[in-house]
Amino acid sequence: SADASAGQAAPVKVNPNGPTEETVLSVEHYTDRLFRFRLTRPQSFRFRSGEFVMIGLPKEDGKPLLRAYSIASPAWDEELEFYSIKVPDGPLTSRLQKIQPGDKVLLGRKPTGTLVLDALTPGKRLYMFSTGTGFAPFASLVRDPDTYERYEEVIVTHTCRDVNELTYSRTLIDSLSADPLVGEMVGGKLKLFTSTTRQHHEHMGRITTLIENGKLFADLGVPPLAPATDRAMICGSMEMIQDVKALMLKAGLTEGSNAAPAEFVIEKAFAG
Ligand code: A2P
Repeated sequence: SADASAGQAAPVKVNPNGPTEETVLSVEHYTDRLFRFRLTRPQSFRFRSGEFVMIGLPKEDGKPLLRAYSIASPAWDEELEFYSIKVPDGPLTSRLQKIQPGDKVLLGRKPTGTLVLDALTPGKRLYMFSTGTGFAPFASLVRDPDTYERYEEVIVTHTCRDVNELTYSRTLIDSLSADPLVGEMVGGKLKLFTSTTRQHHEHMGRITTLIENGKLFADLGVPPLAPATDRAMICGSMEMIQDVKALMLKAGLTEGSNAAPAEFVIEKAFAG
């Protein structure tokens, strides 16, 4: 009968749609505001390079506190990598920044997102425009062989306030020439363009300024943006996305989605 278990201890409820508990494998701190960490990846966890997923920690009452994070590792990787900001009074990141190898982190089961190669139509040159932690989905895509199979040239831009905030993107891109999977493909194809807005650096200025005044293209030795050849992915703050999007539209590019692939796609940088 329905109350056959009355009087017995209630069984632990495992939510089949709820997050799984993954183990922290490594943590690397870049600045007092930025760090990355790697987690175990469940066998059943499938995603496309560039997508995001909910991750988090249990609250004091045991319920999960989750936020959207771009997956920074490529789809083929056995582990999952995330790049995060540390906010001293942030509900999640104030605690997440203290994780150590062996600790547990909650991982959602449904990765999704628009910054995927399938949301773009074929082209010659792929731009990935990022600011701050908006570089994370591109850390995934630059490690995916598909990116180089689909485009002749891949240009990643990363703009931050200060030089030390560029460490993750610069060391990652530098390491790719020795990568066993994409090392042979990146040579001559992949370019990282970094700029800062508040501290002296080789290139200075917002990416919007550098697109508008043409300095980005002059420095890279490429022609101005054109819908016939160029595709773009944009990830940064809400304002940054809207401003870069306006420049894409001005250049004649059309916004795409998973349902209707086109010439550029956008996503807000999470946990900013
Ligand atoms: P700036 O220093 O001029 O504000 P944030 O940490 O505030 O998200 O900023 C990350 C980087 O993005 C900074 O270099 C910042 O420049 C730049 N940025 C902020 N807003 C925009 C925008 N609307 N368009 C382009 N770049 C932006």
